[in-house]
Amino acid sequence: MPDLPDALALLRDVLIHRRDAGERTVAVTAAALDRLRGLRHRLSEAPGHALSAEPAAPVTAPPVAAPVVEKTAPPTPVSVGDEASRIAALAREAEHCPTCRGLGTLRDTMVFSVGNPAADLMFVGEAPGFEEENQREPFVGPAGQKLTQIIRAMGLRRPEDVYISNIVKFRPKEGDGRFQGQRNRKPTPEEMAASVKYVLAEIEVVRPRVIVALGATAMEGLLGISGSVSRMRNRFQDFNGTPVMVTYHPSYLLRQESQSPDQGKGDKRRVWEDMLLVMEKLGLPVSDKQRGYFL
Ligand code: URA
Repeated sequence: MPDLPDALALLRDVLIHRRDAGERTVAVTAAALDRLRGLRHRLSEAPGHALSAEPAAPVTAPPVAAPVVEKTAPPTPVSVGDEASRIAALAREAEHCPTCRGLGTLRDTMVFSVGNPAADLMFVGEAPGFEEENQREPFVGPAGQKLTQIIRAMGLRRPEDVYISNIVKFRPKEGDGRFQGQRNRKPTPEEMAASVKYVLAEIEVVRPRVIVALGATAMEGLLGISGSVSRMRNRFQDFNGTPVMVTYHPSYLLRQESQSPDQGKGDKRRVWEDMLLVMEKLGLPVSDKQRGYFL
């Protein structure tokens, strides 16, 4: 359980993010409002307290009109608490995401992220699929197993050394979603536009030294570039000062492996070449064995 100051800071973060997601009012009972006022007063008297150092938004009677913000603006990066609690606050906000849920084309279960919110290396994928939805964790199905192999081949551990997330936080529906079974589909541009603010906010919190964009959806969501991954891979792109390596999605590797083994081998090698560049950028040791993988 967070202590009281952390709980209040988290509450504030949630309210800021809801506002930035387009919500205009927050219903608060009079009793809750009184208790909040009392808590703020007590905290502001505590010497050196985090909340007393930074003026917080005034608590006003409901309905609270939030300042008008661009609907497309990403959530304000949260500025208090450690990375894990800040990510948890974003996840709680994403769970309600009015723009995502309002589309009616995404399923109900939110799958946010996994890994170390202070990691140097962040992977960004597309959207959760059947397995991910069941386990509420990104990249746990067949593509996830492939990604885990890649992470291990880099000499890293999942989840300790990496942070893994997706552009879209809900599994895209097929039809009305009732008889979807294990079928997954790519998110639409509308679904991406509704969700991408969360991954942008996650990047602000994690501040990874390198981001790997897995596949065209991640490339488009992060860099705004559509088209073929093969044109963009194998060199670093820039995302607000953070190097981004675009590479093939692990699902693509699996498809290629089964449909055209020779091409699949070549693509695996190409992903590995991209990962070698990532390792070098991060200053990770690269052994001769690692350099020669997939040759
Ligand atoms: N594919 C993705 O892009 N993300 C997942 O979490 C799983 C499969």
